[in-house]
Amino acid sequence: MTQTPVSPPARAEELPAFPMARTCPFAPPEGYAELRAQGPLTKATLWNGKETWLVTGYDLVRKLLQDPRISSEPPRLATIAASEDGQSTNFRTFVGMDPPEHGVYRRMLTSYFTVKRVQAMRPAIQRTADELVDGILATEGPVDLVEALAMPLATTVICELLGVPYADREFFHSRSSVAIQSSTAEEITSAFMDLYQYLDKLVTAKEAEPGEGVISRLVVEQLRPGALTHQELVNTAVLLLIVGHETSANMIGLGALTLMRRPDVVAELRADPELWPAAVDELLRYHSSADWLRRAAKEDIEIDGTVIKAGDSVIGLAAAANRDERFANADEFDIHRTERHHLAFGYGPHQCIGQHLAKAELEIAFGTLFDKIPDVVPAAELDELPFKHDATLFGLYRLPITFARP
Ligand code: HEM
Repeated sequence: MTQTPVSPPARAEELPAFPMARTCPFAPPEGYAELRAQGPLTKATLWNGKETWLVTGYDLVRKLLQDPRISSEPPRLATIAASEDGQSTNFRTFVGMDPPEHGVYRRMLTSYFTVKRVQAMRPAIQRTADELVDGILATEGPVDLVEALAMPLATTVICELLGVPYADREFFHSRSSVAIQSSTAEEITSAFMDLYQYLDKLVTAKEAEPGEGVISRLVVEQLRPGALTHQELVNTAVLLLIVGHETSANMIGLGALTLMRRPDVVAELRADPELWPAAVDELLRYHSSADWLRRAAKEDIEIDGTVIKAGDSVIGLAAAANRDERFANADEFDIHRTERHHLAFGYGPHQCIGQHLAKAELEIAFGTLFDKIPDVVPAAELDELPFKHDATLFGLYRLPITFARP
């Protein structure tokens, strides 16, 4: 498809401020459509007065995310809030590395996240979902779906995958939510330090006596032969633990809310469960809960006559690209759409390594919830629900639900 031509850059004083807030929980920030109408590449001003390029067009987001002149290394990236300034650069993980270093980590990890591996994990995920939803059915009184299903399911899955004790979940969840919310710089640094120390001990224990899970496998296959240092392994484990549960839990909450508001769609899905994979993809596109794909230019990059200069910050907006005209009636939630190549998992070398796992978790969570409790509905009005407007990943802090009890 053809992209709208890139518009000439606006003068600094006319630039919109970024980030923009979501005014409707089912839509990207209102300003995105306006930006996209100006062209796929526009400029905005950040909290510190610095400028960033915003990429809102689907084709251009994909193009730039796989451009070797684009970097993911933190020192070059825009800081979205004051709290991110001056954060330790010792905490390096592969999400902030460029090729070829980045590829070394991806090759170490890919085999744990293949479709086949995830397929083998499905029965365990299903058992957990069954237990959690049965627990909801057995609860008298109000139930919060985030606490009763979204968070424990996502946490159990990542704990089993990594070999992290589930009993420690309250500790690491509390620290990782601080790390991804707009807390102060000191709070974020201290949360990362706590997580680092926790996983440092765990990795040390597994070095002495490896057990089940990805951390133990990395000890045996990478650390012992000298391909990874202890610190690199701990950093990798911190990254996997944080992103591996917060992301899926947010999407389970948001997706359940959307589905509860569409009983017609739920009835269709219950009648034909083969539609679940398409429904999950559509929920991922529709919500685009991980919106900001932060990068920087390593060299000058010319796009239709406009030059992104070396050192410039570039932010691909997944939520904007996922509402591009490439998707017919993009603002509609439509589980039958044929175009499923959304950017909710990013694109290019950093595309989400856990995407097959995430999709399996979502399919199982929704399938089990609506199978066992088809009449489940939110127990609060939309404007009473606490959405995560202050976090880097959109979601819900709580989702009270209700249903007819026998
Ligand atoms: C619905 C759930 C999820 C969403 C929406 C999501 C979204 C994303 C996005 C957008 C990126 C790209 C970031 C970028 O390019 O800057 C990413 C990367 C990543 N995701 Fe996910 N993710 C989800 C679940 C998971 C799970 C379950 C894991 C499991 C551990 C995971 C692990 C990762 C890792 C390690 C990266 C970095 C990959 C790299 O830099 O090479 N994600 N994710």
